[in-house]
Amino acid sequence: MHILETRDLSHSYGEGIHALCGVNFIAPRASTIAVLGPNGAGKSTLFKHFNGLLFPTSGEVLYRGEAVSRATVREVRKQVGIVFQNPDDQIFSPTVREDVAFGPVNLGLDAETIEHRVSGALDLLGIEHLADRPPHHLSGGEKKRVAIAGVIAMEPQVLVLDEPSSGLDPQGVDTLTAFLRTLPRRFGMTIIFSTHHVDLVPELADYIYVLDRGAVIGKGTVEELFLRNDLLQRARLREPPMMRLVRILRENGVDITTGYAQEEIEDAIVNLLRERTC
Ligand SMILES: Nc1ncnc2c1ncn2[C@@H]1O[C@H](COP(=O)(O)OP(=O)(O)O)[C@@H](O)[C@H]1O
Ligand SMILES: [Mg+2]
Repeated sequence: MHILETRDLSHSYGEGIHALCGVNFIAPRASTIAVLGPNGAGKSTLFKHFNGLLFPTSGEVLYRGEAVSRATVREVRKQVGIVFQNPDDQIFSPTVREDVAFGPVNLGLDAETIEHRVSGALDLLGIEHLADRPPHHLSGGEKKRVAIAGVIAMEPQVLVLDEPSSGLDPQGVDTLTAFLRTLPRRFGMTIIFSTHHVDLVPELADYIYVLDRGAVIGKGTVEELFLRNDLLQRARLREPPMMRLVRILRENGVDITTGYAQEEIEDAIVNLLRERTC
């Protein structure tokens, strides 16, 4: 049984606005799944079904094999946390600490557990120093981290992030990537994220779905998807430069064995060059 799944999920916002059309999506436990696609493809609409912010027009969403419905949504929201694209949609308390505590307080946890969860989340995101600040005066990247800490403090099984790298500076993206990478291994957490930032995908994703006009137009591993030019064109994506380098080396007869995360490719190239010069 998969932790999260959609079956023939369709969603219409009204007459003629068919945002999702028959989406079949699977997230195995402790996997990291990327959802890619152009603006308006339906990524955010899909994500809002994962914890019952929206319900299907037809089809279903299953959490651990059980349909997400009005009857189960309260329980599902404890397990599936969403970080919205714009942190201002998510942050509203007078201080960062209170904001991060909002979820745990709503879960009805005792004061000691709340304190423990909040300090743990602030620590994980490296924002203890912001704890007493009003969130509204923070930078975009800091607000993003506060929003993520708020969801992490609920200790969800599934962390859904809608365009988590938007608004971050390059170092902020690297820090976030390194952080997200640890979660499946440390906590068995499942991560689902959308992004236009293709370089992030080989660093994080085990599996990718590509959406266009509400339908899944491609799915597969990083290697399977980024080597398909037709698909990249349709989804208005481009091949990550490091993957392009590996592809071109191979097309020119260089036998290079590597995964597709940047560090793996760097190591493979260094090893290859060392072997040749010895
Ligand atoms: N609240 C809404 N009311 C009506 N149409 C909407 C609403 N939200 C999104 N849409 C439409 O649904 C489609 C998918 O949007 P969205 O899920 O936001 O795509 P993405 O996140 O991939 O950019 C778009 O055509 C968008 O205009
Ligand atoms: Mg969106």
